[in-house]
Amino acid sequence: MRTIEINLADRSYSILIESGLLTRAGELVRQVAASDRALLVVDSQIASSHGALVGRALEQAGFRIAIHEFKAEETGKSLEAMRNIYAALLAAKMERSSPVIALGGGIVGDVAGFAAATYLRGVPLIQIPTTLLAMVDASIGGKTGVNYPLPPGPDGQVTLGKNLIGSFWQPRMVLTDPSTLLTLASRDFRSGLAECVKHGMIADASLLDFLTTHKDKIAALDLGVLTDLIERSARIKASIVMEDETEADRRALLNLGHTFAHVIEPIAALDLRHGEAVSIGLCAAIACSILTGRLAETDQIRLRELLESLGLPVRLANPVSIPTLISAMRYDKKVSGGQIRLILPTRGGGAEIVEGVEESLIAQAWADVGADPEG
Ligand SMILES: NC(=O)c1ccc[n+]([C@@H]2O[C@H](COP(=O)([O-])OP(=O)(O)OC[C@H]3O[C@@H](n4cnc5c(N)ncnc54)[C@H](O)[C@@H]3O)[C@@H](O)[C@H]2O)c1
Repeated sequence: MRTIEINLADRSYSILIESGLLTRAGELVRQVAASDRALLVVDSQIASSHGALVGRALEQAGFRIAIHEFKAEETGKSLEAMRNIYAALLAAKMERSSPVIALGGGIVGDVAGFAAATYLRGVPLIQIPTTLLAMVDASIGGKTGVNYPLPPGPDGQVTLGKNLIGSFWQPRMVLTDPSTLLTLASRDFRSGLAECVKHGMIADASLLDFLTTHKDKIAALDLGVLTDLIERSARIKASIVMEDETEADRRALLNLGHTFAHVIEPIAALDLRHGEAVSIGLCAAIACSILTGRLAETDQIRLRELLESLGLPVRLANPVSIPTLISAMRYDKKVSGGQIRLILPTRGGGAEIVEGVEESLIAQAWADVGADPEG
């Protein structure tokens, strides 16, 4: 079994990675949760498959479990979803030591995590990610939360502000079973590869080489290669979280591509998965780096080719109004003193936090990925 330790004083925990781990979920959760009650919040898509397996494993370890099924949709990542989970927690008479177990992708993890963070001022949380994106990113580092509608933009449209209501709440354990990826739709699987590219761009150029070299085995869901990819990518996230748990500084680098991605992801007409929005967001950030002299066009070509070879989009399918996109960017959590802060990739690998990029350059970067200057 691969183990990654997250050292955060009294909030430390382990990420365990092994195919077949779900069958051992009961004994493993038992190691970090004393109570005999547990709430399993499970993605309704996998409730009868992976959910049933985890439910049995928990019961065999002596847990009395209540099950709350949740449909994983961005629009459902809401305060209404929180109310339903609180009701389930109360109905199950969950106590302060009773764990919430989040089984699913990033949406279930974020929503169940926020419920665990706030119910009775905080109960133990166990993350069991079942998408690549959640394995390499969302299950690690304790960001939890829901979306909330933004005030209307210049065109009068109301879109969802991503993850605007939430908290930091570290899990007690992350159980990662790469074999659960075998049931994931290929589009949802590919979406997670965008976060792996992001990690490589921020901290480890050799991860980008790994993705290039092994792209066929990755697409074929070779579990050996996937386990390596998950471990390498998760280690990058883990090390940045350990340096800066609450995003006072360096952790903001993990938002590379996200300031752009978060405003296109909620636009229904674009029909983008989170990782697809991140892929286009990475391309917009790369364009911004070229416009501000941080990257060369050869870097842009190489990174775009990598994203495309992994089956990820690099441009918007429909033109969206640039003023609307920039207006929505102003609600990003990194805005400081009214200024949009961007994470921009730099020559030779790595990225930096940049304030005060001229709006006209941000608009040009949007145009570079197909947004509409006239809209
Ligand atoms: N907290 C964080 O640090 C963090 C980091 C990155 C992303 N996120 C959030 O994560 C979310 C995206 O997560 P995601 O990409 O995992 O999407 P998701 O949770 O929507 O899952 C994608 C789809 O896969 C299905 N699914 C999940 N596991 C499956 C499996 N094993 N087999 C078959 N189907 C399965 C789901 O029902 C869903 O339809 C976004 O809301 C994003 O904001 C959070």
